[in-house]
Amino acid sequence: MRKKVTVVGAGNVGANCAVRIADKELADVVLVDVVEGVPQGKGLDLLQSGPVQGYDVNITGANDYAPTANSDIAIITAGFPRKPGMSRDDLLLANFEVVKTATEQVAKYSPECIIIVVTNPLDAMAQAAYWISKFPKNRVVGMAGVLDSARFRTFIAQELNVSVENVTGVVMGGHGDTMVPLVRLSNVSGIPLTELMDQATIDAIVNRTANGGAEIVKYLKTGSAYYAPSAAAVEMAESILKDKKKVLPCAAYLEGEYGINGLFVGVPVKLGANGIEKIYEIKLTDEEQAKLQKSADSVKELVEVLQSKQ
Ligand code: APR
Repeated sequence: MRKKVTVVGAGNVGANCAVRIADKELADVVLVDVVEGVPQGKGLDLLQSGPVQGYDVNITGANDYAPTANSDIAIITAGFPRKPGMSRDDLLLANFEVVKTATEQVAKYSPECIIIVVTNPLDAMAQAAYWISKFPKNRVVGMAGVLDSARFRTFIAQELNVSVENVTGVVMGGHGDTMVPLVRLSNVSGIPLTELMDQATIDAIVNRTANGGAEIVKYLKTGSAYYAPSAAAVEMAESILKDKKKVLPCAAYLEGEYGINGLFVGVPVKLGANGIEKIYEIKLTDEEQAKLQKSADSVKELVEVLQSKQ
């Protein structure tokens, strides 16, 4: 039987998730949005791309969740994007309401699904989806690390003029300015980054990665990035749908790993048919651990705001 993916939010990120899922022929897609006509129109338009692109998946749009029933995965992208000068954190309360509604409905119609949260501020929204769905922790995962690592890898490849495919870049922590690109664990076909670049260049790339989202917001002015975010969310969905067991940096609910408890933070995980099948607890240096803790603390601040509103 064909797999089914619900994409909540038929805006830039959501619609591009649908495009990528269809192009890879991963699953039927149901787009859901509050705006009447938009998910239906985009769904039909995408369906009509099938004969040209050569995919046989069904793509529909709706303003309610009944058509999403029994989805394998729900990707939550609904929310308000960042405007210039606005931090991800400013979005907190507005997007909490959106994620809350979306999660309630997704959990009602697809109680067995795996939720991939994309809405920002990411780690706090993943936490909200976890609370509201009451799903086990392996079935709620946040998309951030794949995107942040992709940005890190892009800048490294650009600097060295090598294939992006040869670049491994690990980014941990929250999806914000405090994220932790791990230079020690990044390499080009096994060659440590530190052998290929001087410290000043590495520092500049790390800094650009941490501000990668803001750089695009500054260019776009009216919204935030969506091509790379949708690609990242769909890489995670593909690993789950095909049980590929890819090891990817994702926001996962930690219960003591890295000394962090009861919080969603970006760490390397194995993604397969059961969602998060393993959290890798790698040995960090004292400096890396301190940065990760600082990043977790900034996620905690947001989560505490949400807790106080519950
Ligand atoms: N239910 C369903 N859809 C909703 C809801 C809701 N309660 N509230 C808003 N939406 C829809 C909007 O109508 C819009 O179509 O979510 C969509 C968001 O799309 P865009 O404004 O294009 O934003 P996008 O760039 O897709 O970003 C969405 O992903 O990367 C993050 O920071 C980004 O949090 C933002 C989210």
